[in-house]
Amino acid sequence: MTRSQPATTLYLGQILTFQGDPFRSDWSDVTRHETAGAIAVRDGAICDVGQKDRLIAAHGDARIVDHGQHLILPGFVDAHVHYPQTAIIASWGKRLIDWLNTYTFPEETRLADPDYASQIADRYMDLALAHGTTTMASFCTSAPASVDAYFQAAADRGMCVVGGKTCMDRNAPDGLTDTAQRAYDESKALLQRWHGAGRGRYAITPRFAPTSTPDQMQALGALWGEYPDCLMQTHLSEQTEELAWMKDLFPDARDYLDVYDRFGLLGERGLYGHAIHLTDRERGCLSDVGAAVVHCPTSNAFIGSGLFDMARSAQDMAVGLATDIGGGSSFSMLRTMAAAYEIAQLRGVALHPAQLIWLATAGSARALHLEDQIGHLRTGCVADMVVLDLASTPAIAQRVDQSDDVWDSLFPTLMMGDDRAIVQTYVAGVPRLG
Ligand code: GUN
Ligand code: ZN
Repeated sequence: MTRSQPATTLYLGQILTFQGDPFRSDWSDVTRHETAGAIAVRDGAICDVGQKDRLIAAHGDARIVDHGQHLILPGFVDAHVHYPQTAIIASWGKRLIDWLNTYTFPEETRLADPDYASQIADRYMDLALAHGTTTMASFCTSAPASVDAYFQAAADRGMCVVGGKTCMDRNAPDGLTDTAQRAYDESKALLQRWHGAGRGRYAITPRFAPTSTPDQMQALGALWGEYPDCLMQTHLSEQTEELAWMKDLFPDARDYLDVYDRFGLLGERGLYGHAIHLTDRERGCLSDVGAAVVHCPTSNAFIGSGLFDMARSAQDMAVGLATDIGGGSSFSMLRTMAAAYEIAQLRGVALHPAQLIWLATAGSARALHLEDQIGHLRTGCVADMVVLDLASTPAIAQRVDQSDDVWDSLFPTLMMGDDRAIVQTYVAGVPRLG
């Protein structure tokens, strides 16, 4: 006779939870740390969180997975990435526009081959999970096959992801451009296939103003009007040469955001990557509509784009954090938090570890309008979780020996950690590593 498996699993370890936004409240008022904590998971969802002894008593027949002193966090949420650029990460020596023409566009052209697109999508998803990332918002290429490959790779792993066909009808090679009509038709067919299919969410995706004609942006703005529940992702004010190019192409626009606004591409479910060189007017508009900006710090340093103003942005609007692979130089959201810290330091601000963790989890989840499902360790959320070893290398371990509270124990991993710190990544309660 076989005994049936208990329906509930208790994951034991240190846990950190957030009750609010540590940029708008004192971090110590909105965080809670359990040295001996537990998370109860049933049918892939979190059903209880708190002190280990209480949960063991309350869930007497539960299976126990003991992570000891390791820290359990929500799975990382990468709010802006280009999965098709996986194989060209860390390409040398260019700024944005030359980097796109030299490395990015030739590689993205290759993903028109469905087999190659699937190979890269699988490779990217496995790298993301190995780095503790359970959700991402990715640009695909202009080829519908690259979108199918992305959502299929995510569905195969049970992951909640956002993505969309990257539309371009000018200033890109022939093999990558579409037209206004094709961008509309193909995006519509893809969103009908993938938006709400399992854990997939569609983002209408004009690459950026320089590679879309007014007709294409108009068509995509109209599509967003028809499907307002979808997200819209693009790039905004990343590099000064890009700004000058935008001004040449749209001499009548008040500023960069105004271009998107004119074509119906400014809205609450809009995600604007980079947003470094913003005017006060643009900040005011983004804040008024409740749109999100996404900070991509390793990319901003790697391509030399500039210093994002986190202190101001996080007060005014929703902010997500992202790798921006392959302009970004790491798949790791730990490396990305380190870069965010360093960029803020260059602007005279020291971000607290609570703020960094929040950005990589709840902040990005809020930006993607998925906060009710992911980004938190709380009852009702899906059990997407990452388990961190806070002494994953000799260099980190000897530093942590000196620590006397959780923030001081955690900060060296945020600054010096990488995939070696990831003990396990759970997607809906299923372990995805090892
Ligand atoms: N702007 C337009 N396309 C891209 C891209 O692929 N990466 C980055 N970093 N910026 C962009
Ligand atoms: Zn990007």
